[in-house]
Amino acid sequence: MSVTQERFEKMRPVSRGRGPKLTADMLPPGPRAPALVQSVGLLGFRHQFVPLMKRRYGDVFSLRLLPEGRWIVVFHKPEAVKEIFAGDPAVFHAGKGNAILGPVMGEHSLLLVDGATHKRARKLLMPAFNGHALRGYQEVVAGLAKAEVGSWRVGEEFRSLDRMNALTLEAILQVVFGVTDERRLAELRPLVNRTVNVHPLVFLGWGLPRLQTVGPWRRTVLNQEHLDRVIYAEIAERRVAPDLADRTDVLSTLLRVRDPESTESGGGGLTDDELRDQLVTLLLAGHETTATALSWALYEVGRDPAQLARARTAALAGDDDYLEAVLKEAMRLHPVIPMVVRHLMKPATVGGIDLPAGVTVAASIILAHADPENHPEPDAFRPERFVGGHLPPNTWLPFGGGVRRCIGAGFSLMEGVAVLREVLSSYDVTVRPGSTDVPKVRNITSVPRHGARIVVTPR
Ligand code: HEM
Repeated sequence: MSVTQERFEKMRPVSRGRGPKLTADMLPPGPRAPALVQSVGLLGFRHQFVPLMKRRYGDVFSLRLLPEGRWIVVFHKPEAVKEIFAGDPAVFHAGKGNAILGPVMGEHSLLLVDGATHKRARKLLMPAFNGHALRGYQEVVAGLAKAEVGSWRVGEEFRSLDRMNALTLEAILQVVFGVTDERRLAELRPLVNRTVNVHPLVFLGWGLPRLQTVGPWRRTVLNQEHLDRVIYAEIAERRVAPDLADRTDVLSTLLRVRDPESTESGGGGLTDDELRDQLVTLLLAGHETTATALSWALYEVGRDPAQLARARTAALAGDDDYLEAVLKEAMRLHPVIPMVVRHLMKPATVGGIDLPAGVTVAASIILAHADPENHPEPDAFRPERFVGGHLPPNTWLPFGGGVRRCIGAGFSLMEGVAVLREVLSSYDVTVRPGSTDVPKVRNITSVPRHGARIVVTPR
């Protein structure tokens, strides 16, 4: 069995057992349909199903999901969201909810660990994402944005999501790995793309050794093995690179960090396996998410001449705050990730409701962002909401919150502003009348169904 196959086997999401029996009368109201039907609703039709549940059962409702019919209680009002994010990390576990990503991301992934292990990993990763580090990445990102935007064909409609995906993949490869060697980049691009594009059915099959020898499962394992070989080779080369101390990319920063509290040999740095898992996590978490938010931003700006004029003026005047507001409003109106979840390890009270251990609590991003009490006229695209800093806390949650808040939030905002600046100072963006778009579920994220089609014309 290869190392990759072992990881698939080891990290296969396994049944956590039913534990003490939870029954509907212990929880807020919810539908009675079988867990299978509710799972399909939540995972496959979340943009219709979740608002429907709120209309039917009120602000807090319970759902039952496969596997094991586990319970998930969905909240979205700011007071409850605050309690979920501020909950004791020893009680509110996030890693368990992400177990499905285990076979790809690996057991050390920041997304999958909890408690003290998470605290240590987060502390070691932080230096690669603080303000100083972000300033170091700006130039690379701006250069890539310029090259990409300069290659666009004017007057022809195209799927902005595809172009944004290509751009953010390039940015993450260069910023995270610091790879500029074209041969290695050419090897990495399809490997990462294939990892991101894994079909949900493939998820269901991993961990079953027999399946790993056939069809899409075999191709997934082979792709992972290839990606791992490239990553481990890059780590080995970088450990001995003469310019390691001066390099600003994430991998080099991670190779230099030390945990002062560690008593392990090697001075508490990250091991090769830990580095591999964190790199894969960053590659996968940081690429399509930002591309999706950007494509919605271009789409919304392109639909309204007044918004376009305002955003163009900002781009030409170097008003980055307004461009950031455009991006934030696009993330509000079109959440990329629908909800964040925490699994209760002990009984806890959320929103005044006592909940037993074993329940999963969710902060629904879809509902929080569409609530008129949080955002007046929630269906309108109005970046001005984010200008002047009047937004009430815990009403805008695209990056989650608390100790698990997205570690790449600052990076994606920086990257998004750089790209919008480049596009809007070069072109007018329009959306043709027949190119209306709507969200479509794509594994964990939601993306524009038709790729957010736009046309660009030079001014
Ligand atoms: C628009 C872009 C992005 C969105 C909408 C997004 C969204 C999220 C959300 C909702 C979470 C879960 C937070 C929680 O549980 O409270 C998360 C976690 C995470 N994100 Fe992002 N993300 C984005 C970009 C990025 C980027 C660019 C990177 C890295 C380069 C990244 C890396 C991560 C990691 C490592 C975690 C796990 C954090 C932890 O558990 O401590 N994300 N993200």
